[in-house]
Amino acid sequence: MKKIGVLTGGGDCPGLNAAIRAVVRRAIDGYGFDVVGFKRGWSGPIDGLVEPLTKLAVSGILPKGGTILGTSRTNPAKIEDGYLKIRDNLKKFGLDALIAIGGNDTLGVAANMFIKYDFPIVCVPKTIDNDVVGTDYTIGFDTAVKIATEAIDNLHTTAESHDRVMVIEVMGRHAGWIAALSGMAGGADLILVPEKPFDIEEVCAILKKRHERRGKTFSIVVVAEGAVSKDNSIKGTSDKMDVAFDHPILGGISVALSKEIEKRTGYETRYVILGHIQRGGAPTPTDRILATRLGLKAVDLVANNEFGKMVGTVGGNIVSVDVRDIAELDKHGNYIGKTKTLDMNFYKESEVFFG
Ligand code: F6P
Repeated sequence: MKKIGVLTGGGDCPGLNAAIRAVVRRAIDGYGFDVVGFKRGWSGPIDGLVEPLTKLAVSGILPKGGTILGTSRTNPAKIEDGYLKIRDNLKKFGLDALIAIGGNDTLGVAANMFIKYDFPIVCVPKTIDNDVVGTDYTIGFDTAVKIATEAIDNLHTTAESHDRVMVIEVMGRHAGWIAALSGMAGGADLILVPEKPFDIEEVCAILKKRHERRGKTFSIVVVAEGAVSKDNSIKGTSDKMDVAFDHPILGGISVALSKEIEKRTGYETRYVILGHIQRGGAPTPTDRILATRLGLKAVDLVANNEFGKMVGTVGGNIVSVDVRDIAELDKHGNYIGKTKTLDMNFYKESEVFFG
């Protein structure tokens, strides 16, 4: 009989609990495994924060947002002997395998554990940003797009009543997936993404054309937090850093952008930063289904001793890919998940509706 561990790392998202439930149910009912959960991401195995995961423990969690295990942005590379502590503790707890549910940072640590420390790992991709290579979609993305789309719908009515430009800022540090897809679903008049630095003159020209030639009195601009102007003068503030994985803590591009739009066009402009609302609440049915299928598959891989893999969805099928194909070495010689930037076909299709 095997004993497996599961953890959730990085930013939380809706659907994590659905994945944990699927792992536990498949492991116990399908294979008779014992399951333990590590608390607070990679802090769990480093500090020995562990609890048994029974069927009772995961009962009723399918529709709940967040993660019953808690999460953190703990990077073992920044902790003395962090990786060795993880390996030794996983062995001490008698684990045969670990299922790591996370985004690029967490998956990178998992890749290190497998490739450099030879520990049996299976990964499950989650992040509202949808920027993990090797899968069409990550757990949490569909819910974030739904939340952002609803916000865009709501902003339409107030923008129209007041003849205003509304700038809505959504998450997406390096990838514009949420901006592009919610913008398309919500009928944005302009979408700005990190993959395509923008020219503020062009932005204002598009809005002016819409107002002057098409007679529109309001506009909706969707901007990803990681978008930046071509001259680098309009961007999110990054005076704070997430030191664990060296990410700037972004936010605020909509403030600078709305100010500039109002100054250059004369149109009254307001901004909204959607922020962590995108990561909260109940997962959509699509996310629950994806999380469930990925969780089941992860345990099947463990049962077949297929380690060093990440499960994913490609073309609607549940697949597995080698962690070596989804991670790359950073400047410190540690693996980090590769970023899947926006498929620009989505952007080109949205562009038809700009202005
Ligand atoms: O989960 C990824 C992400 O949503 C990014 O888009 C965003 O920049 C980041 O999380 C913010 O996370 P936190 O505030 O939890 O550090």
